[in-house]
Amino acid sequence: MQNESSLRIAIQKGGRLSEKTLSLLENIGLEFDNYKNRILVPCRNYDVELLLIRDDDIPEYVQDGICELGFVGHNVTAESRADVTHLRALGFGKCRLAVAAPKNSPIKSIKDLDGSRIATSYPVLTREHFEKQGLHIKTIEISGAVEIAPTLDVADAIADIVSTGGTLKTNGLVEVETILESEAELIQTNQPIPADKQELIQKFLMRMGARQQAEKSRYIMMNAPSDAVEEICRIIPSLKSPTVLPLAENDLVAIHSVIPTQQFWEVMEELKAAGASGIVILPIENMIV
Ligand code: PRP
Ligand code: ZN
Repeated sequence: MQNESSLRIAIQKGGRLSEKTLSLLENIGLEFDNYKNRILVPCRNYDVELLLIRDDDIPEYVQDGICELGFVGHNVTAESRADVTHLRALGFGKCRLAVAAPKNSPIKSIKDLDGSRIATSYPVLTREHFEKQGLHIKTIEISGAVEIAPTLDVADAIADIVSTGGTLKTNGLVEVETILESEAELIQTNQPIPADKQELIQKFLMRMGARQQAEKSRYIMMNAPSDAVEEICRIIPSLKSPTVLPLAENDLVAIHSVIPTQQFWEVMEELKAAGASGIVILPIENMIV
């Protein structure tokens, strides 16, 4: 499905966010085939096409209106200073831009970096961070393998993305300070968008909202003695009006409801103590509230 006015969405080609972004799109019912080795990928069942590019290029493509939407790390958008609208955070791709120094160096706090050289792919955010604290540094701009710079004596410290911390550890570096917390986000162009595309965006956002809501919730079912219902509703306050069904067996009821995922783990023991049994928890595919 595709025509002149297809909605165009930029996503990262082959990187940390690619897989999760594609599965998010598939989870809201969009079908793509053959996106390997292609730059423009049409969607089979929605008037949208994907542009697969380097993440660093995404904010500018969206700013210029080449793509109406983009999925990208907040770190990349912030560094680019692109004029785009942040629509929503996506809850994955969590990482931080942090300053790190060799573990055996005398650099223990940010103040120790006054007058030093810092290697980074994020010169804008790094300079701004140090300027705000009245510290003078020299940024050495490197586009890849920043973590090796102190070993090569190209820099005294680095400012780079930390996710698991594995890269820092492998290279004998320790974090000194966080510059920016980040996660994947959906951005939108500030260029004028024609009404038909605007409508496609609204539908797209509604589907994403339903999916995000569903991920935060679980469907819970349990059996309990009917006189325990009140107590169970007290334990799970979000169970405002659960479905309570009588069971054939004397005085037992089945309780069904939707609860925040997190809550289940907190109250499981209490539910059992209140007399609940056969507790089943199910994922929800989509949820329109
Ligand atoms: C970052 C960073 C490190 C790695 C850190 O790269 O440059 O290489 O991730 O992750 P870790 O803490 O889990 O070891 P990124 O994925 O942002 O790649 P890119 O700069 O090439 O887009
Ligand atoms: Zn990148």
